[in-house]
Amino acid sequence: MKNIKVTASKSYDVLIGVGLLNNLGQQLLSVLNKTCKIAIISDSNVWPLYGKIAESALTNAGFSVVNFVFPAGESSKNADTYINILNFLAENHLTRSDAVLALGGGVTGDMTGFAAATFLRGIRYIQVPTSLLAMVDSSVGGKTAIDLPAGKNLVGAFYQPNLVLCDLDTLNTLPDSVFSDGCAEVIKYGVLYDRELFDHLSDKGLGFDREAVIARCVELKRNVVAEDEFDTGARQKLNLGHTIGHGVEAQSDFSITHGQAVAIGMAIVSKAGCPAIYAELCAVLEKFILPTTTVFSAKDLYTSALSDKKRSGGTVNLIIPREIGHCEIVPTPVEKLESFIEEGL
Ligand code: GLY
Repeated sequence: MKNIKVTASKSYDVLIGVGLLNNLGQQLLSVLNKTCKIAIISDSNVWPLYGKIAESALTNAGFSVVNFVFPAGESSKNADTYINILNFLAENHLTRSDAVLALGGGVTGDMTGFAAATFLRGIRYIQVPTSLLAMVDSSVGGKTAIDLPAGKNLVGAFYQPNLVLCDLDTLNTLPDSVFSDGCAEVIKYGVLYDRELFDHLSDKGLGFDREAVIARCVELKRNVVAEDEFDTGARQKLNLGHTIGHGVEAQSDFSITHGQAVAIGMAIVSKAGCPAIYAELCAVLEKFILPTTTVFSAKDLYTSALSDKKRSGGTVNLIIPREIGHCEIVPTPVEKLESFIEEGL
């Protein structure tokens, strides 16, 4: 098992290993100090697979457990489900001595975190990510949110968890396409910060060393969160491929998944901003069954990218690779964005 310590407005451990769910109760006892009530929030895909294991691990350690299960999918990450979670916590009389536990992927983690941040003005919460994307990105660093009809993640808070527990066994039940999707974020860390990680991915493809690679990604994210918890500087680099990627997702009515869109976004910014790495990056993305091109026009992508919340006044901060392992934040006037995208198509 690997243990990565995150130091931000709250300090906490990210545990990564096999079979950790069975130990959930003992791990929580050491983090929360004594038993309490735990509300497990999960979705209709994950709860049938892992809900009972998590529940038994907690009750065996003396916790009392209630659970709330919502329909799986991004369309559930909305104000209605969020309010339903809050009502559930209130009806079950959770207090600030209790805790909420997110069991699932990014949707579950983001929404549970936002409920924890706001219920009783903040109660403790634990992330138990069960997707690759959630393990390497969304469960770490305290970004919590729900979507609005106007866009993804438009309402949220920075609110750090008390523990993140990544049981690698949960990756075994992920559909191949969902695993590949998470790989886009893993490849992103290599392009951003780590040539060695990128080379390992290039060499091993989908057979990469899961524990070592996930731990490395978490370590890289931990470093950037420690430097810029509230996303005003260095943390923005984690948006590599995301501004244009969000445009691709929106244009496709979300039939193109987040990871696929980020892969396309990374390919476009590389072709336009750092052609020297373009072929090498595309080769790795293709090894992970990720797309590198899109049918949408520069004009359509530009229009969607402009409604992205990373826009600030008349500029968009694009993250441009300079070489594998090093990228820069480049404030780009919005009027130059369309031609930049055109160059990358
Ligand atoms: N998902 C990007 C971040 O946590 O900043």
